[in-house]
Amino acid sequence: MKKYKISLLRSKQTITHQNNISLLKNLEIQGIHPEYQCRSGYCGSCRTKLISGKVSYKEAPLAFINPNEILLCCCQVESDLKIEL
Ligand code: FES
Repeated sequence: MKKYKISLLRSKQTITHQNNISLLKNLEIQGIHPEYQCRSGYCGSCRTKLISGKVSYKEAPLAFINPNEILLCCCQVESDLKIEL
């Protein structure tokens, strides 16, 4: 499975990500705790600004997101990312 580099702007860390777990879960494992509620694309709590890179969604999430935002709980990482976290 492909490995992606996720650069976290505010916490000045870089983590490695594979899509076998959610980005939210991966961040938690690394000791970073973004906001969340539903963990399944409904509430929008995990909304995070995407600085660069590309994600996709298996199913279109119900939560509203701007074009420059991603949902950490349910996005599939498609390239190295830079996010505001
Ligand atoms: S935690 Fe609810 S949309 Fe991600």
